[in-house]
Amino acid sequence: MSALQQKIEQVKQVLAAAARDFPPVTFANSLGAEDMVLTDLIAKNFTMKNGQDIEMFSLDTGRLPQETYDLMQEVRKRYGVPLKIYFPDSALVEEYMAQNGPNGFYDSVKLRNRCCHIRKVEPLKRALAGKGAWITGIRRDQTVTRGSLEASSFDADHGLQKFNPLLDWTNAEVWEYIKQNDVPYNKLHDKFYPSIGCACCTRAVTPGEDIRSGRWWWENAEGKECGLHVASIPIKCA
Ligand code: ADX
Ligand code: SF4
Repeated sequence: MSALQQKIEQVKQVLAAAARDFPPVTFANSLGAEDMVLTDLIAKNFTMKNGQDIEMFSLDTGRLPQETYDLMQEVRKRYGVPLKIYFPDSALVEEYMAQNGPNGFYDSVKLRNRCCHIRKVEPLKRALAGKGAWITGIRRDQTVTRGSLEASSFDADHGLQKFNPLLDWTNAEVWEYIKQNDVPYNKLHDKFYPSIGCACCTRAVTPGEDIRSGRWWWENAEGKECGLHVASIPIKCA
């Protein structure tokens, strides 16, 4: 068995254990490259038909790139599994817009965190309510802030177990899986966007640059988190 095949089997075991021990389980699907690996594995192996259900959801911030919506549509067609979409609370968005304008997040880390809180963190709380565990596509070497994360741990902020089954995968392994299994992926990846979030907060990188350098490019690397997984430094989300 190849090294990649071994890792795939390990991920399936982790997903099976999560589905067995912590139902109901949900997968936070950003439709990034890592998450497309998990989409493929979950849609093929963990649906109601074999009694081991893992649901999936996406947080639609309202500011995603067109290419991400195209992929969302493709996932529906290709896999035929439900992908539940959560939107931000409209009253909070309206208040933020009135106070800071549509692009206020460029003005300070505090305003950027507030926008991420409204458009991602608050909807995430609703998506996780009543769940026993959630699954993410985080990899350890994505950022300086994620080095100490564990493959499975209790997420005290949200009050449920959290699994990061691809934690020790490399970027090359993610792409090997995608190519080998003909998994659909975001077309922005072919245009030098290794990591994709909201359109207004993501740009292409140049060869050799850090894979997350295109995210919130105007901020320091140490603080580049939106609060979904690691509190942003130095100013925590409200
Ligand atoms: S972020 O915190 O910087 O935005 P990143 O893009 O690295 O996160 O994604 C890490 C993991 O967070 C993804 O694998 C996914 O599980 C979850 N995630 C991020 N954005 C979303 C989203 N819009 N919808 C659902 N899950 C998301
Ligand atoms: Fe707002 Fe940018 Fe965060 Fe998206 S990534 S929620 S637009 S600050």
